[in-house]
Amino acid sequence: MRHALVFGGSGQIGVPLLDRLHDAGWRVTAVSRTPHHDQPGLHWLQGDLDHVDGLPRAVDAIFSCGPLDHFARWYAASKVDAVRVLAFGSTSIEVKRGSADPEEREVAQRLRTGERGVFETAAARGANATLLRPTLVYGAGRDRTLTRIATLAREWGRFVLPRNAHGLRQPVHVDDLAAAAFAACDVVATHGQAYALPGGETLPYRDMVARVLAVLEPPPQLIEVPSPLFTAALLGARALGRIGGFGDAAVARMRSDLVFDMEPARRDFGYAPRQFRPTAAMFGS
Ligand SMILES: NC(=O)c1ccc[n+]([C@@H]2O[C@H](COP(=O)([O-])OP(=O)(O)OC[C@H]3O[C@@H](n4cnc5c(N)ncnc54)[C@H](OP(=O)(O)O)[C@@H]3O)[C@@H](O)[C@H]2O)c1
Repeated sequence: MRHALVFGGSGQIGVPLLDRLHDAGWRVTAVSRTPHHDQPGLHWLQGDLDHVDGLPRAVDAIFSCGPLDHFARWYAASKVDAVRVLAFGSTSIEVKRGSADPEEREVAQRLRTGERGVFETAAARGANATLLRPTLVYGAGRDRTLTRIATLAREWGRFVLPRNAHGLRQPVHVDDLAAAAFAACDVVATHGQAYALPGGETLPYRDMVARVLAVLEPPPQLIEVPSPLFTAALLGARALGRIGGFGDAAVARMRSDLVFDMEPARRDFGYAPRQFRPTAAMFGS
């Protein structure tokens, strides 16, 4: 029976990954900062990437579905022996590199440092690492973009976008990401590689939001306003403390295409993500 060590197993990608490992007969040791009940084949350790007791001495694979920079530091210092390491990063490594927002540039820098760290540690130990970079994640009602939009739209009965929100997006379902990590684990061609993992459909930002609103009950109205009016409304909402997280750089990106090539992932491990067909249950209702 193969044994996996999983960080972030309680997260939106981690949960379906644990299911896949279980269904395939793996034994799993998972780490969480909060207590969880063990299940057949699944043992939880309570701790974090700075300190956790009881780690196995050796496993067949380590999966990281949590913060990459923390994981890279843990991996560099750890004594757990594993020939295979698969870690999630983000396409933000490219998207936010040239951002006007210093905090976003810092995110991209941390992702770069994390990826480099994982590859260097793996090389030093004779292990094989693969980095997986999702685009915009949805599906478990826990993401910070579409679920957040759905929550605000339910509250307000409407959602406002600037008329130029036509930048292309590729929302990717959490189950497809878990499937990717699981499939890549056994493929030699993925050793030492980083893969973009976009969703199976490319569509304009406003269409993506419209599809989310259309499945909510009752469906909130999508209101598109001229860009200066949107900016003024956003400033007002921020001043009233009614909205956070939609920074100027994120708003400016609504008109930019964020499109990634899934071909390397398809070629190497059969990556075949689903089309964007949301349901209300994917956004926490
Ligand atoms: N490009 C994108 O849009 C995008 C979107 C989402 C995710 N991602 C990437 O995909 C990966 C998984 O994301 P996710 O959305 O599934 O994450 P998530 O749902 O937020 O879960 C994060 C997991 O990491 C663990 N974690 C968080 N902080 C930790 C810490 N300081 N020490 C130890 N564990 C910690 C949490 O475990 P406990 O709370 O149980 O301790 C949790 O299970 C991340 O690397 C993320 O960067 C990229």
